[in-house]
Amino acid sequence: ATASQAATSGHRTVTVAHRGASAYAPENTLAAVDAAHELGFPWVENDVQRTKDGELVILHDNSLARTTDVEQVFPDRSPWNVADFTLDEIKKLDAGSWFGPEFKGEHVPTLEAYLERVEHNGQKLLMELKSPELYPGIELQTLSELHRAGWLGKSHVKRRLIIQSFNADALKNVHGLRRDIKTGFLGKPSLADLPKYAEYCDQINPHHKAVTHEYVEAVHGLKGPHRRPMELYTWTVDDGPTAVKVAGLGVDGIITNKPDVVRDALEGR
Ligand code: G3P
Ligand code: CA
Repeated sequence: ATASQAATSGHRTVTVAHRGASAYAPENTLAAVDAAHELGFPWVENDVQRTKDGELVILHDNSLARTTDVEQVFPDRSPWNVADFTLDEIKKLDAGSWFGPEFKGEHVPTLEAYLERVEHNGQKLLMELKSPELYPGIELQTLSELHRAGWLGKSHVKRRLIIQSFNADALKNVHGLRRDIKTGFLGKPSLADLPKYAEYCDQINPHHKAVTHEYVEAVHGLKGPHRRPMELYTWTVDDGPTAVKVAGLGVDGIITNKPDVVRDALEGR
């Protein structure tokens, strides 16, 4: 099926702004959340990690070096891992200037501030637990923070929240703690292994180069823990032709730095 056939057959592909609309604003900042919102995209993806003093923050790399000015502010703290910095130290960093001078003053957001902004904008969250093996207990801590922020109420859990990870054990832990939360496994388990994942994963989310029609069908053929067919979201698709191709393969979601490019391609513009 082509993308337009998929669209007319009633299958809608969800477009998720990867690290926010991160082609247009510094990734994983509140500016990137707002950029997605302003372009009209409710779903944002992010990456959750933990500081030295146990605070949850939004950052993709384990190190602060690429996306902040940490090397200038703390020159002798190589390799500048987020796990070695306190939240007070991280608050001193500029997480926007590397991307463009107009974003000077953006910070590495706390999970709390991030949730507040997504809620304020009426958006939805595909939240990644990044390298959870480095942060023992981060599953329960993350759920506690979601709860405090009002994100574990029925409508949020049902419609506005998915937790994903490359780490299957972390997802098992999330599912064990709160069975109603949807989870997504980042990667591509073998067809033989898929039924095991279906016990605790609602989604299987592979790299776009790994997606085939047969694989999408296999995922759709299994029911997840909430007794609905499992879904497949793929990443990171930033060009129109690839978006049209994976939509034609039947994916349920496309995770992209350029949500507008994906939308235009799927609408056949
Ligand atoms: O959402 C999928 C994608 O974020 C996984 O890769 O490295 O960008 O976290 P990465
Ligand atoms: Ca991610």
